[in-house]
Amino acid sequence: MRLQDLSETLHTRASERPAGRDDGVLRAILGRRSVSPKRLHAPGPGRAEIELMVAAAAAAPDHCGLRPWRFLRIADDARGALADLFADAKRRRAPQAHPSELDRERERALRAPAMLAVVARLEEGHPRVPVHEQYVSAGAAIQNVLLAAAALGYGAMIVSGAKTRDTGLRRALRLDEAETLIGFICIGTPAGPAKVRARPEVSEILSEWNG
Ligand SMILES: Cc1cc2nc3c(=O)[nH]c(=O)nc-3n(C[C@H](O)[C@H](O)[C@H](O)COP(=O)(O)O)c2cc1C
Repeated sequence: MRLQDLSETLHTRASERPAGRDDGVLRAILGRRSVSPKRLHAPGPGRAEIELMVAAAAAAPDHCGLRPWRFLRIADDARGALADLFADAKRRRAPQAHPSELDRERERALRAPAMLAVVARLEEGHPRVPVHEQYVSAGAAIQNVLLAAAALGYGAMIVSGAKTRDTGLRRALRLDEAETLIGFICIGTPAGPAKVRARPEVSEILSEWNG
């Protein structure tokens, strides 16, 4: 089924809709697109809006309520420090890096009006919740933040890169040993319409098991 067919399904007459159906949510999910941090401008979300996004994250499925993830808002006046950390991490990975490459790394910490670090807190060996379920929960939390950002009129994108494994950056963000830095959600006002990316055909990702 193509997206167009899906939107036709959305347009069924109100009387035919099951009670409780909320097309707005479906439209938001089907229409969500990441917006590159290069195309995110001021104004960004204020603290209350960030809190709303994180409240949306807290609605993610979470087996046994482990809450295997958390968010770290990068304070506006800490952006310069984060930029230095990104450049330091690049220098450690690539000691010969050209100054322009270091500048590009710094830029990554400065572009979007707001940034949230996403941290997974995985409990290995939990008797009921394997680690892959905890990652799934973190992914759902991220998606909820992206959707909440879109619902509030912002563009957003999660980005990562080799720096997320950098010990110096992890230490500076005060992650503990058991935590994983998944990436950074960049949020701001989109410069224009988001790039439309092809989605897989439903037939590629849905099959039937007949016993
Ligand atoms: C955990 C995670 C980290 C990601 N890191 C990057 C990244 O560093 N750079 C990048 O271009 N895309 C990255 N992506 C992919 C983008 O966030 C985005 O999903 C992709 O460009 C597709 O766009 P769409 O969300 O509109 O489908 C990452 C996705 C996830 C889930």
